[in-house]
Amino acid sequence: MAGRGEARRGRTILPNVSGLELEDVEKPATSATLFGNEAPLELEIGSGKGTFLVSESKLRPGVNFLGVEYTRLYWRFAEARRRRNVCENVRVVLAHAVTFIRDYLEDESLHAAHVYFPDPWPKTRHRKRRFVQPDRIELLARKLKPGARLQIVTDHAVYFDQIQKVVTDSSLTVVDFDMPASALEREIVGSNFERKYRREGRRLHAIAARRV
Ligand SMILES: C[S@@+](CC[C@H](N)C(=O)[O-])C[C@H]1O[C@@H](n2cnc3c(N)ncnc32)[C@H](O)[C@@H]1O
Repeated sequence: MAGRGEARRGRTILPNVSGLELEDVEKPATSATLFGNEAPLELEIGSGKGTFLVSESKLRPGVNFLGVEYTRLYWRFAEARRRRNVCENVRVVLAHAVTFIRDYLEDESLHAAHVYFPDPWPKTRHRKRRFVQPDRIELLARKLKPGARLQIVTDHAVYFDQIQKVVTDSSLTVVDFDMPASALEREIVGSNFERKYRREGRRLHAIAARRV
């Protein structure tokens, strides 16, 4: 938890806590193995500092929320936030999302997948690093239960064009975006990046799709 035991590096305060690392996660990663219960499981890819996970989990205590985040600093911030808010229905794993989804999740195990403000990798030579690509979306689609939804929000208009095409061409069916319970008035999801980008006046784009 941030506070006692935290280290200062420049102006950044590093919470002295760790969440789950891949070697701590039993395969397959399910509500039973991660949370010890059978509640529905929702995944956030690139969960950053955990704002969405924590806010949403408090309003929907009957659902388990799993974040996958590959930046150690953000993963630690998310774990600190999870502990501070005593969120028993949240876990955050330090991993590359593709590795985790491919190797740890069972097919048809997720009740929803959330991808909020995925890194846009604007340079052409970096575009292959984008999360939303046809093979990755199909991989994720297989992990959704029939009827479960994938939700994506971005501020990046060019990336959104690609996201729309990939999602529309995928095996998923595009549906209306469902605002999460924790979104405040005039918000789409209420994640950290949404709040930051709204302050900057950026236009935001959202899409949702359902596994038939
Ligand atoms: C722009 S931030 C958005 C964070 C949060 N979703 C929000 O809306 O505030 C993108 C996050 O995704 C993480 N990320 C990007 N690619 C990832 C990947 N392949 N696997 C896991 N995390 C990833 C980054 O480290 C970063 O924390």
